[in-house]
Formats: sequence, structure tokens, C-alpha cells
Amino acid sequence: PKGNGWMVQHLYNYNGFWLNSYIIKNILLLNTFFKPQPSDIFLASFMKSGTTWLKALMFSTLNRHRYNSSDHHLLHHNPQSTFPYLDSECYPFTDFTNAPSPRLFATHYPRLLLPSCITSCKFVYVCRDPKDVLISKWHFACKIRSKDLKPVAFEEAFELFCDGVSDYGPYWDHVLSYWKASLESPDMILFLKYEEMKKQPVVEVRKLAAFMGKPFTVEEEEKGEVEKIVELCSFEKLSGLEVNKNGVEKLGKLAVVERGDFFRKGEVGDWKNYLSEEMKERIDRISDEKFKDSGLIVGAN
Ligand code: A3P
Repeated sequence: PKGNGWMVQHLYNYNGFWLNSYIIKNILLLNTFFKPQPSDIFLASFMKSGTTWLKALMFSTLNRHRYNSSDHHLLHHNPQSTFPYLDSECYPFTDFTNAPSPRLFATHYPRLLLPSCITSCKFVYVCRDPKDVLISKWHFACKIRSKDLKPVAFEEAFELFCDGVSDYGPYWDHVLSYWKASLESPDMILFLKYEEMKKQPVVEVRKLAAFMGKPFTVEEEEKGEVEKIVELCSFEKLSGLEVNKNGVEKLGKLAVVERGDFFRKGEVGDWKNYLSEEMKERIDRISDEKFKDSGLIVGAN
């Protein structure tokens, strides 16, 4: 095992990916107990790539007929609670069979570790510049409260990340597993980028809605429904809500974080405040090497 202190538990290399033992055991439970329905939609991401944001956007886009903006679910519930994580629900004890269709699930599992019955469903993947992911993850790791965790120095976190040793890492293999699948089946996997979403959220939310089978109608467009969803799910709006400032979220069985820790800066390029030129180049070199010939470019243009 490696990586103690970087997140919550020791990480083990399982089929090429670094996972803690709880997450590894859950793969076996998933294989045995989880029965996907063809209409299910999954949100997949590497940790700290914008999962919370996408959860809010997917939920409010799909459920836009159920709420009016003054009494929206997201004003009173934190985005984590909108739909479950496959990775940490306790199978077979949680029964999802009666959840409204399409059911939504989030996961950080790399594509290659998911049971094949799941990968025939629709997936939204959100990818973020690895340099911002590293910075976001290190800050988050420092905030986690767990009796087993010692905060790790940034330099050590950097080395581990570059070596691929971080929860669900290597980052590059994770992203590639979904990128390649999205090229093969663009109708089944929508590959989004955090940086594009920041730049043109309305355009990306339209794509998201169409992909999920609920495109905005002309009438909705005229009423500015897309803009309303973008505004409701914006970093500024969500991070300012009382429900996202107070309370804690459990991370697996062993640790908790404050809800507010899911909202830090929400910016593109914060890595510039932390990485030396040499560090930046090292990560960029790994990305160039790993993504060469794949057509994938990560980070802001
Ligand atoms: P930073 O730490 O760079 O601020 P995840 O949800 O996958 O854990 O990712 C967390 C990152 O997404 C954090 O990045 C967080 O601030 C940012 N984030 C959370 N909500 C957001 C939103 N509504 N819009 C943009 N970014 C958001």
C-alpha cells in the first residue's frame, strides 16, 4: 500500500488504479447487487473535477418542471444529496428500484473497473485540468477530518499525484478511459470539460439537456430557463447558500468534511498560485505523453 495521508486510507493498486480497500470491496458488491436500468444516467469524474457542480446541473436540468425558482430543491438541500454515489452506497442495503426515471448516479470509478452492464448506459464525464485537480484535491485533503489522517506536505502530494498515486488515479488513465469510450460512442458518453463549462455554461447546459433526453424547448429558451439553471448552479449562488455552508458530509465510513469544503474557489488556473514552472512543466509533459495521439487536450486553451 502507498499514499497514506494523502487522503483517508492506504491506497492499493487494483488493476492499474489506486483505490482504498473500501472502494475495492464495493466493486464486488456493485457487480453482484446493482441492477442498472437502460434509462439510468451516470455522472463520472475524477475527484475534484467539478462533480458537485455537475450534480446540481444534471439534477436541476432533469427536474426543471418540478420546481419554481423561488422554492427550488437546491436552495434547501446540498448538491451532494441530489443523487447517490455508486462508490459508497452500501449494497445490498440501499434500494434504488423505485427512484424516478431516469435514475441518476455519480461515480469516480474509472471506466475500466465498472461492470459491463453499467457501461451500456449513458454517461456524462467531466474532465478538468490536472494541475487544478491536484491543487483542489490537496486543499480538500487538508480539510478532511479523520483520526487516521495526517495532512501531507504539498511537495509530497505533488510527487504522489505525478506517480499516479491518488484516489482513483492515475488521473491520466482515468480521463483516457472515458475519452476513448466517448469517441467510440458519442451518443452514450458526453465528455465535458470544466474549463469550457466556466467559459460558456449556457452552451454546455444545452448539450447536457439534449444528451439526457430533455432538450430545452423554444418556449423554455424564450423564458431564459437555461440561464436560470446556470445561475442557480453557479459557484457564487451555491456557495452562498446556508445549506452549503453548514453541516458535514461523510466520506465513506471513516471521515467527514464540512459541506462548505466542496466549494473553495471554483476557478480555472488557480494552480498558477501554487506550482513552480518546473512543476507545471512536469505535469504538462505527463499529459502530453499520456494523451499523445488521443486527440485529447486538457486545461484552458
Ligand atoms: P476548487 O478547489 O479549485 O475551488 P468536486 O465537486 O468534483 O469535488 O470538485 C470540487 C471543485 O469544484 C472545487 O474546485 C470547487 O470549488 C469547484 N466547484 C464546486 N461547485 C462549483 C460550481 N458551482 N461551479 C464551479 N466550480 C465549482
